[in-house]
Amino acid sequence: MNNYLLSSIKPFYVMEILEKAQELEKKGRKITHLEIGEPTNKVHEMIRSYAKSSINSGNDKYSSSLGLTSLRKKIAKKYRNDFGVNISENEIIITTGSSAALILALRALIKTGDPVVLVEPYYPCYPQLIKILGGKVRIFKTFVEDGYQIDTIKLKKFINEKDKALIINSPSNPTGVSQNKDVMSFLSNLNINIISDEIYQGLNYIQSPDTILKYKNDSIVINGFSKFYSMTGWRLGYLVLPKRLIRGIQKLQQNMYICAPVVSQYAAIGALSINNNDIAKMINSYKRKRDFMVSNLNDMGIDLGYNPDSAFYAFADMSKFSDDSLTLSMDILDKVGLGVAPGIDFGPSFKKYIRLSYSSSLKNIQVGLDKMREYIKEYT
Ligand SMILES: Cc1ncc(COP(=O)(O)O)c(C=O)c1O
Repeated sequence: MNNYLLSSIKPFYVMEILEKAQELEKKGRKITHLEIGEPTNKVHEMIRSYAKSSINSGNDKYSSSLGLTSLRKKIAKKYRNDFGVNISENEIIITTGSSAALILALRALIKTGDPVVLVEPYYPCYPQLIKILGGKVRIFKTFVEDGYQIDTIKLKKFINEKDKALIINSPSNPTGVSQNKDVMSFLSNLNINIISDEIYQGLNYIQSPDTILKYKNDSIVINGFSKFYSMTGWRLGYLVLPKRLIRGIQKLQQNMYICAPVVSQYAAIGALSINNNDIAKMINSYKRKRDFMVSNLNDMGIDLGYNPDSAFYAFADMSKFSDDSLTLSMDILDKVGLGVAPGIDFGPSFKKYIRLSYSSSLKNIQVGLDKMREYIKEYT
């Protein structure tokens, strides 16, 4: 069983690009990274000061398995203030990154052989986690021609009574698209557990941020601090759950993780206390980077064919340059020292795509896009 499981798990191809990039860096090559979906800016002073004071005052022991009440109250308040959604701290469990939130939610919902519906293109870990937990993946496709919006009529026909859950991710990794309000509202008619991964929530440059809880209040929400607050290494996420799942998932958490990292939980209280001006500056800066990336890609003949309105990704069809974007990504790295993520990570229909991230500095993005321009001119 174990060997079978290990051999069925796919590599995270972007990590293979990153590892090759690191080897080249060790040999002295200067590599520009646009492959990783990780904000490179330093975390806000408020986050650091809450973390320091938790360490200095010895608040660094296990918390309740549910997480600190003060943090859960702050999260509930955020959902009330930002979305008018009435949840209490008793519906929230703090987790070790949103990765653990995903594992806990899936573990609670599926047993061996249960199908879970994924919307392609998808976050690469989803199918692997479903497999690890014994479930089966069913892929529902979205298309660039539809701006990667879910075709709700087709989705309704696609889902059947055997499916145990549908995972949606809006804003999306890898497209940087948010589902529109019609789609979100349609999802409330579906008779299925919805797991809504909202980790990029708030990084919205055109429409206002959204949550599934506005439309279907018995959904399972995955969220976290890695992306919006640049806290990738602090490993902090959370679940907002229907009351019927709280006790069961609390027991899973007690046995699997005990509790989420406590210093990070205090730091997250700091994150939720950052003033609105600083948040607005950050959003504006991402918006500028997005505009810069999209217009530069257009200039070099890469038309995305859709509008990436959120998160920090652009997903580009590279079929006019190559049929296999994994080989293409390796070649781009080799020839011009630029890391990009191969589309195969995000689903079998996207083998000819690459994902570019604008989560780093404008300067880094500029250098990366210059390298891409050079690659297209010299090597295609
Ligand atoms: C869609 C999505 N969900 C979850 C995660 C995992 O994030 P975390 O750092 O909170 O575990 C990522 C990270 O890239 C992501 O893109």
